[in-house]
Amino acid sequence: SSSKQQFDLVVIGSGPGGYVAAIKAAQLGLKTACVEKNATYGGTCLNVGCIPSKAMLHNSHLYHMAQHGELKKRGIEFQNVSLNLPVFLKQKDDAVKGLTSGVAYLFKSNKVTGVRGHGSISGTGEVTVKKEDGSSEILKTKNILIAVGSEVTPFPGITIDEESIVSSTGALSLKQVPKKMVLIGAGVIGLELGSVWSRLGADVTCVEFLSNIGGVGIDMEVSKAFQKILTKQGLKFKLDTKVTGAEKSGDGIRVNVEGAKGGNGETLDCDTLLVCIGRRPYTKELGLDSVGIQLDKRGRIEVDKNFQTACKGVYAIGDCIQGPMLAHKAEDEGIICVESIVTGHEPHIDYNCVPSVIYTYPEVSWVGKSEEQLKQEGIKYKVGRFPMAANSRAKTINEAEGFVKVLSDAKTDRILGVHMINSVAGELINEAALAMEYGASCEDVARVCHAHPTWSESLKEANLQAYFGKAINF
Ligand code: FAD
Ligand code: NAI
Repeated sequence: SSSKQQFDLVVIGSGPGGYVAAIKAAQLGLKTACVEKNATYGGTCLNVGCIPSKAMLHNSHLYHMAQHGELKKRGIEFQNVSLNLPVFLKQKDDAVKGLTSGVAYLFKSNKVTGVRGHGSISGTGEVTVKKEDGSSEILKTKNILIAVGSEVTPFPGITIDEESIVSSTGALSLKQVPKKMVLIGAGVIGLELGSVWSRLGADVTCVEFLSNIGGVGIDMEVSKAFQKILTKQGLKFKLDTKVTGAEKSGDGIRVNVEGAKGGNGETLDCDTLLVCIGRRPYTKELGLDSVGIQLDKRGRIEVDKNFQTACKGVYAIGDCIQGPMLAHKAEDEGIICVESIVTGHEPHIDYNCVPSVIYTYPEVSWVGKSEEQLKQEGIKYKVGRFPMAANSRAKTINEAEGFVKVLSDAKTDRILGVHMINSVAGELINEAALAMEYGASCEDVARVCHAHPTWSESLKEANLQAYFGKAINF
C-alpha cells in the first residue's frame, strides 16, 4: 500500500546535516519531511559518534584523575576508587537518549514531518520510503536533500564483530575494560577512544601508517607535542607501521604488522582490536541511478557550489560529499543549502574557517593553515606562541600542559591559522574561527579586552607575540 504526500523539501537522513537542514527549511516556510531509517534521529553524531564519545571522554577523565592522584594532590582524599562500567555506559546512553529525543521534539515544534524508513529516490521529485513492516510510502516533493552521511571504512580481510574486533560503534559499548587493546589508525577516533579505554585501565597500542598522529591537517609541532603528552599518559604508538592482517586465536587476537615501507614484521597480541582507519560515504540503495547522479572515485556524491547534484532539485550535504567529515561542517552546509533553495542566492562557506577538535585531555584544536601548509604554499608568515604554563588560570588549577600558536601573514598581520593544545582547546578555537571569518589581524585580537583570569588570554597573548614580537606574561 502507498499513500502520496506533497512536500516542498524531503530530507533523506537525520544526522546533524539532515535534521538541522529540515528544521531550518520548516522555519523558512517550506513544507518539509525528514526520512530516517534508524529507530532514533540524530545520525552518526548523536547515536554513535560525537555525543556518546564525549560523555565517555569526560567521565573517563574524571576516573583517571581520581585513580592517578590528581585529586589527592588537591587535598581530596578517599579510600578506594573503582569503576562501575555498566553505570559509566548508562550515563552515556542516557545522554544519547536525551539528545535524540530532543530532535524528535524539535521536529514537532517546528512542524517537520518525521518519516521512519529507508528512503530512496524513485524519480524526479519523488522519494519512496520503505517501512519496517514491508509497506512503502511515496513522498512527492519539489526538492530533495540527501544527507545520508557515512559509515566505517572496513579493513580488507578483518571482520568486525563489534565484540572483540570493533569499529568505533562497538568501542562505545565494550562489556569490559580490555586488558590489551590494539588500534589500527591513530587518527581522531583512535586517539579519543584509545584515551577512554586507556584511562579505564587498558594497555593501548596505536598502529599508524603515517609518521605522525592526529590525522590530516594537524600541525606537526602540535602533533609531536601531543604524542609526547599521550605517551606520558600510557598510550603506546607504532608509527610508520601498517597492519597486514589479524586473526582470532584462542580467546585473543593476533595482529600482524610491518614497517610502512615493508620489512620488520611483528605480531601484536590483544583481546580487543579497534579498526579506525576512516569513514566512507553511505549511499546504499539510494536510487541515485534513477535520476543520473554519479559518485566520485571515493564514493562521494558530486555537487556544485550550490550543493546541487547532477539532477536539478536534488541536493547533497555533509559526510556524503567532499570535505571534512565533521558534524558542524554538515550543519552549516545544511543551513546554507536550504537558505539558497528558498532565496535563490548562492551559498557561501569558507572551509578554511572550519575548526577541528580532538577531545582528548588536554584537547587539541586548530583552524586555518598549518605551518607545513604555509611553507608548501610559499606564504611568508610569523609565529606567535604562548605556553599554557604562563597562563594564570591554567596554572592556578594545574592544567598547564600545552600551548597556543598563531600563524599570521608576515606582511599584513592577518591571522592565517591557529593551533593549540590545552584543556579547553575545543572551546577556545571558536574565538579563533570567529576572528578568521572576519579577516582579523593578530593586533585586532590582541587589542580585544579579554576577561581575567581565563584561558582565552593565552590566545590574546599569542596574537600579541605574533604582531609585536613580545607577550606580556612570557
Ligand atoms: P550522519 O550523521 O551519518 O547521518 C546520516 C543519517 O542518514 C543516519 O542517521 C542514517 O541512518 C540516515 N540514512 C542513511 N541513508 C538513509 C536512507 N537511504 N534512508 C533514510 N535514512 C538514511 N564530528 C564532529 O564534528 N565532532 C565530533 O566530536 C565527532 N565525533 C565523532 C566520533 C565518532 C566515534 C564518529 C564515528 C564520528 C564523529 N564525528 C564527529 C563525525 C560526525 O559524526 C559526522 O561528521 C556527522 O555525523 C556527519 O553528519 P551527516 O548528517 O552528514 O551524516
Ligand atoms: P581519520 O582519518 O581521522 O584517521 C585514520 C587514521 O588511520 C589516519 O591517521 C590514517 O593514516 C590511518 N590509517 C589508515 N589506514 C591504515 C592502515 N592500514 N594501517 C594503519 N593506519 C592506517 O579517521 P577516523 O579516526 O577513523 O575517524 C573518521 C572520521 O570521523 C574522521 O574523518 C573524523 O573527521 C571524524 N571524527 C571526528 C571527531 C572529532 O571531530 N573530534 C571524532 C571522531 C571522528
